[in-house]
Amino acid sequence: MIPKSFVQELLGRADIVDVIESYLPLKRAGTSLVACCPFHSEKTPSFTVSRTKQFYHCFGCGAHGSAIGFLMEYSGMGFVEAVNDLAARIGMKVPEVTPSPQDAAKQVQSEALTELLQRAAQFYKSELKRSEKAIAYLKGRGLTGDIAARFQVGFAPSGWQNLAAVFGDYQAKALVDAGLVIQLDEDKRYDRFRDRIMFPIVSPRGQVIGFGGRVLDDSEPKYLNSPETPLFEKGRELYGLFQARQAIRDAGCVVVVEGYMDVVALAQCGIGYAVATLGTATTPWHLQKLLRQTDDVVFCFDGDAAGRRAAWRALENSLSQLQDGKQVRFLLLPERDDPDSFVRREGKEAFERLLADAAMPLSTFALKELTERADMGSAEGRAKFLQEAKPLVKQISAPILGLMLRKRMAELGGISQAELEERLELRPSRQEAAVPQRSPRRASDPYAKLLERVLAEPKLVTELWPITLPAPQGGNVEASALFDLIEESRALNRELTVAGVIELLRGRGHGATVQRLMPVVHDLQRFNVEELLVEIRGSVETLLGEAEEARRTQLAKGVSSPGELSQEARALLARAPVGEKAVKSD
Ligand code: UTP
Ligand code: MN
Repeated sequence: MIPKSFVQELLGRADIVDVIESYLPLKRAGTSLVACCPFHSEKTPSFTVSRTKQFYHCFGCGAHGSAIGFLMEYSGMGFVEAVNDLAARIGMKVPEVTPSPQDAAKQVQSEALTELLQRAAQFYKSELKRSEKAIAYLKGRGLTGDIAARFQVGFAPSGWQNLAAVFGDYQAKALVDAGLVIQLDEDKRYDRFRDRIMFPIVSPRGQVIGFGGRVLDDSEPKYLNSPETPLFEKGRELYGLFQARQAIRDAGCVVVVEGYMDVVALAQCGIGYAVATLGTATTPWHLQKLLRQTDDVVFCFDGDAAGRRAAWRALENSLSQLQDGKQVRFLLLPERDDPDSFVRREGKEAFERLLADAAMPLSTFALKELTERADMGSAEGRAKFLQEAKPLVKQISAPILGLMLRKRMAELGGISQAELEERLELRPSRQEAAVPQRSPRRASDPYAKLLERVLAEPKLVTELWPITLPAPQGGNVEASALFDLIEESRALNRELTVAGVIELLRGRGHGATVQRLMPVVHDLQRFNVEELLVEIRGSVETLLGEAEEARRTQLAKGVSSPGELSQEARALLARAPVGEKAVKSD
């Protein structure tokens, strides 16, 4: 909705150093500015900010981006919000663009729902203060007022239409849309949450987007959750993440648990870096979100059969998100414990000791479960083990971890790695084909080389404007990012900064690709523009040459008599290398 040219102009005028300095003290180190990285925990600074390039990069965790990206990552603002914030800092006015009617309607609806949920949360909070039995219940579970306030815990009193007094118009459709009121039939409505302790679910930006409500006794259902609404999608949200952000940075890890009360009880005992999924299995989105904030994700589930099943589901959904250099671990608690009961009985130190000593790396947990399911003493059992491990290993996106797992699998299965890769079709190349967006590119891929060089020196993209590059064979994420960049920069018709390029590519869904190339791009800063230009021209030539070669082979294959050939094709074939037997002379 914000014109791209405005974003580029804004990035050209704002200074990323001012922006970051308003949050973190930056120190001069040589020609650049450094700080301890706010996105992972460290003692020596590896977070650098470049005034000339207008971007930040952390050599420790790989976080990088423009001033807009920083605002989004650091304070959890959305894109539009970050643009507004940045523009306001330097007194630029964001142009008004009339959104499409659908978008406008959606926006209005979201704002209205947010407002309703906020008011409901306020109401539940004030009701908690008035309810002795609710206070007694929370005290009984070991919670203090501080922690209740931190999580905005509230209470929905009994009674069918308490919200009628809160919202003037109890018949408003929005109350149903917000999930606060249930419509039974034409003229019967009632409050969804009655006589329950209320846990507001808060978005990363701090807005209430839903609730979980717990009964105070043994009645069913124990927890009632908001339905999915335009604001709230269960598989994407994590309870407690908003409150945990700082603690996650400080601890360098995040603990993922199953229950609202687990998060709250852990915080009560001094472990503020826990979040919970919302009555759903862990999704790849959850993991993606968490891995952006930390290098170490620990799933902590109950020690019973259900907890083990949940851990396995979490494992399956993590595979596609794994990255070398980050770790995902699994901590199964003693039987009959959940994180809440464990930490309350044993305390913070015991829990953290368990985290350090008993949390298994994903690979260990996977192999342990798989070998326990099969009789590893027999050939049949080992075959079963290999068969069950196969789909898992196939999904792993981290190349080094994938390799190590294949090695270990082969060992355990009693075959060689080559046999494993051949018989189970676990060749790395196949695996890459299954996960194209994350496969490591071949070292000399000309598209990737071009993209890296243009990222290092964005004004060189103008070199590519007049050239029609051939389309790549098969999925090539670097190529698609490169094409988008060429096309968009040509349309903008202006010189871009590094920050501008990053923003543009992120906007087209290439954030992960850029992230992966960043170390190389940094390395390229050693070269001057002319050197990079020579390399760019070299890659272009390679690509055009390869394309011509491919076209020639194609023509030679598909044609029986040269009489059918077009002028161009004949010229091409005439230049074909000697000895090309597919070209019939007659
Ligand atoms: P549990 O049944 O393990 O409860 O559900 P708990 O977290 O230990 O709760 P307490 O300690 O008895 O208060 C774990 C999570 O599953 C979802 C909730 O998100 C809950 O936190 N759940 C559970 C529901 O959505 N509905 C239910 O009826 C039960
Ligand atoms: Mn519990």
